Amino acid sequence: MSQFAKHIAPRIVEEDGSFRTRMLGIAADRNDVIALGRGDPDFHTPAHIVEAAKAALDANAHHYTGPTGLPQLRTAIAADLNSSYGLDYTAEEIVVTAGVQESIMLCMLALCAPGDEVLITSPRFTTYDTAVHLCGGVPVPAPTHEKDDFALDLAEIEARITPRTRMFVLVSPNNPTGAVTPPAVIRQIADLAIKHDILIIADEIYAKMIYAPNEHLSIATLPGMKERTITLNGFSKTYAMTGWRVGYLAAPLDFVNKVTEPRHTLSINTCTVSQHAALAALTGPQEPLAAMLADYAARRDWLMPALTAAGFTYGHPGGAFYIYTNISSTGMAAPEFCERLLRETGVMLFPGTMFGDDSTDYIRISYLQPLPMIQEAMHRITTFAQSVRAAA
Ligand SMILES: Cc1ncc(COP(=O)(O)O)c(C=O)c1O
Repeated sequence: MSQFAKHIAPRIVEEDGSFRTRMLGIAADRNDVIALGRGDPDFHTPAHIVEAAKAALDANAHHYTGPTGLPQLRTAIAADLNSSYGLDYTAEEIVVTAGVQESIMLCMLALCAPGDEVLITSPRFTTYDTAVHLCGGVPVPAPTHEKDDFALDLAEIEARITPRTRMFVLVSPNNPTGAVTPPAVIRQIADLAIKHDILIIADEIYAKMIYAPNEHLSIATLPGMKERTITLNGFSKTYAMTGWRVGYLAAPLDFVNKVTEPRHTLSINTCTVSQHAALAALTGPQEPLAAMLADYAARRDWLMPALTAAGFTYGHPGGAFYIYTNISSTGMAAPEFCERLLRETGVMLFPGTMFGDDSTDYIRISYLQPLPMIQEAMHRITTFAQSVRAAA
């Protein structure tokens, strides 16, 4: 063992990545894998965005930018937040980061002191747990349930508020459930936040992926909320740009001023070429986005009845590109289900346990393959489930 083991700081919590590693190892040995695991769009980044990045390289965009990002990108982000969601941020109130991921870490570094409690609905995007742990805080999951389509339950949240509650993380549409929090409930959360003096982290990374009749309401548009909300968003999902690593936080100027130096310390600036690509994403044609969204909607609409026909139930997803599916009818626990499904059929899905779910009844399906591939995957899943049920 190296000299480091005994010096690892207590803030580094051991995350057990062995399951994911094993799954990826199994997948690497097969050439027929249909990957419905990761939240990474199958579409390539639209061509005009790639062209803008090439042009930026040719124009020598090879250098540092300021830590908060290119001025023209911050201006375009503020304009998009206003036209898409009615949010009222100036360019100076935007910090461009390496994905939303870095914004999450920056928020926790700035706001989460040791012992602080951070509320989040569950199942959940567990990066929040890790970021809170790294800052010595305590993630406090508030459960959501399939019978409610995993809708946020205000009573479950209020019941967990203590004098140590610092923040509530509102992820809508949600990963892994696809649940969209309706505007009326967003208003109730705002009231709750003001009543208990709680900050809101509004993770809106899926906010352009909403299926009718669901509606998105950005909580920072409500009276008294901009001053206690940090709005997070990015380009990874909306524009199929996961590898470019561009996201941002939007917050009142005094907060931006506080995090500018820490943000510089983390990575100085978001990759300059990627910032030019993100600028093209916002200012260029939006038709490629509309086409991708139409495709996701068609996949979802095909998948839901197919899951029902295969004997599974699920929470009806209002947005994003996930279906959180109950596989308890097979009698198997989700990690075992996912591992055997991959070994025996080549379909890769992730168990709900990877999303902090205490129950082993759920898997997350990312419908991020072309429809014919999803149909083939569903055929394999159905046959597998039938054979498991028959053997029981
Ligand atoms: C809810 C949520 N927030 C943030 C992220 C991080 O996205 P990125 O860092 O690629 O912008 C993800 C990625 O899956 C996510 O699901």
